[in-house]
Amino acid sequence: MNKKSDQYILGISEYELNRLEFQHSVWKEVTDTFLEKLQIQKGWKILDVGSGPGFVSFEFLEKVGKTGEVTALEPSEFYLNYFVNKCKEKGWNNTKAIQSAAEDAELPENYYDVIFARWVIAFVPNPDLFMDKLLKSLATGGIIAFMDYAYEGLSLYPRGGAFENMAETVRAYWKHGGGDPYIGAKFPKMFRERNIELVHYRPVVLAGGPASGVLQWADRFFNVHVQQMIDMEIIKQNTGDAMLNDWNEHKQNPDTVFFSPILVNAAGRKSA
Ligand SMILES: C[S@@+](CC[C@H](N)C(=O)[O-])C[C@H]1O[C@@H](n2cnc3c(N)ncnc32)[C@H](O)[C@@H]1O
Repeated sequence: MNKKSDQYILGISEYELNRLEFQHSVWKEVTDTFLEKLQIQKGWKILDVGSGPGFVSFEFLEKVGKTGEVTALEPSEFYLNYFVNKCKEKGWNNTKAIQSAAEDAELPENYYDVIFARWVIAFVPNPDLFMDKLLKSLATGGIIAFMDYAYEGLSLYPRGGAFENMAETVRAYWKHGGGDPYIGAKFPKMFRERNIELVHYRPVVLAGGPASGVLQWADRFFNVHVQQMIDMEIIKQNTGDAMLNDWNEHKQNPDTVFFSPILVNAAGRKSA
């Protein structure tokens, strides 16, 4: 792995792969609604950047049909192998896989109809470089689309416990990895500076009680990543323990409601 993917703070593991699969199922409706807005046509060429194991790439394959093409771009060999093996198993041969960080990738110029990145640009140390690199590869008239955080809103009701520190702690975790937890709020500026027309911009939040998919999704994240934040000395052991205790107590309360952080869906069109 190269330097940029080494910095990727969530790490690569079987647990993470399963977490990403569950995450995809929880956010599928939100993703599907956004993809509908992009009006993807049969025959289009799509680049899924930081595809992970390819859960959105598989959705794209259905949309572009046999005449289209989907490329998964991903630094992790482990995740990319999952994508490649699944494509082989299903007999999908209109796919490509590139193992690289986006910033270093060899990509065709002026080529893709859609370039998409979900939960990736918030982690990269230089989002401007990342965006510039991708835009070179986007065809004129093509769409660049992101789903990523403006990391506010994360909250747990009834309020008042140690979990109140969680949003700030996760933002610190993102920053520790060189990322930007507020990148979702910066897309309009980044697009304007590059003469990309903003064609869609929508913040989305999910909320639910102890049995909901969104709370279970957050649980899988906190279960592993709070300990990692302690190990990285972003928080002290007792702070992490107190946040997890508060979280676990709320999970036993049927009246608990958890709100996700804000996820921004943003799309822009490259003009001539
Ligand atoms: C949270 S996962 C999201 C995976 C997938 N996009 C999804 O929505 O299921 C972030 C992915 O971005 C990849 N990644 C991290 N830095 C990257 C970079 N500089 N260029 C491309 N991908 C990167 C990671 O390896 C990881 O697979």
